[in-house]
Amino acid sequence: MGEVVVRPLADGEWDAMRDVGVRAFGDETIGGLLDELRASWAWIPELAFVAELDGRIVGQVLYTTAILDAPDRLIDVLVLSPLGVLPELHGQGIGDALVRQSLARLDGRPEPYVFLEGSPRYYPRFGFRPGGDFGVRKPSDRIPDAAFQTIPLATHEPSMTGTLVYPDVFWRLDAVGLR
Ligand SMILES: CC(C)(COP(=O)(O)OP(=O)(O)OC[C@H]1O[C@@H](n2cnc3c(N)ncnc32)[C@H](O)[C@@H]1OP(=O)(O)O)[C@@H](O)C(=O)NCCC(=O)NCCS
Repeated sequence: MGEVVVRPLADGEWDAMRDVGVRAFGDETIGGLLDELRASWAWIPELAFVAELDGRIVGQVLYTTAILDAPDRLIDVLVLSPLGVLPELHGQGIGDALVRQSLARLDGRPEPYVFLEGSPRYYPRFGFRPGGDFGVRKPSDRIPDAAFQTIPLATHEPSMTGTLVYPDVFWRLDAVGLR
């Protein structure tokens, strides 16, 4: 296998990135989620990343804006979703490179947390811990406690507790928690 390069999504690559997301999950609704996030206030263009291998896009990860309803104020935070790698390339470290290298590019961001819903067997290797460890409540009871994970960033302070509030896109597409 050649070298995997993780970099921000470039102009003209939307369709290829979207296709990777759909194929990774085997679910066209991921395409809708990507489209709706891109059209929403939560979208941060510079935080859409792709993994490139031998000149083609083989993985993608997005960070979008959500809100922490903290005791003294509302705080913008990041949500990592979705993360996808082409099925035929699973298990070769591409997801690992995407998460590690994109997290490294969050240096200097104002948001104090990245949150996600995901496997507690996968994400702790990157430093993610249960949101409850930081006094943050999950946005839905349908997210298992162990799946609600977060990593604090440089601007994090212990007083930043509260409830995570997702942007409406995740709700309208029923993309929250397990049913
Ligand atoms: C999750 C995903 C992005 C990982 O990408 P990848 O390139 O296969 O991952 P890596 O090669 O870096 O790591 C493979 C490891 O991830 C683990 N893993 C993959 N999917 C997992 C899952 N759903 N739950 C738990 N562990 C998982 C593998 O068991 C393997 O573990 P190991 O390193 O201990 O052997 C990829 O499997 C994928 O696109 N899955 C479908 C979409 C999806 O479920 N996205 C995540 C939503 S939270």
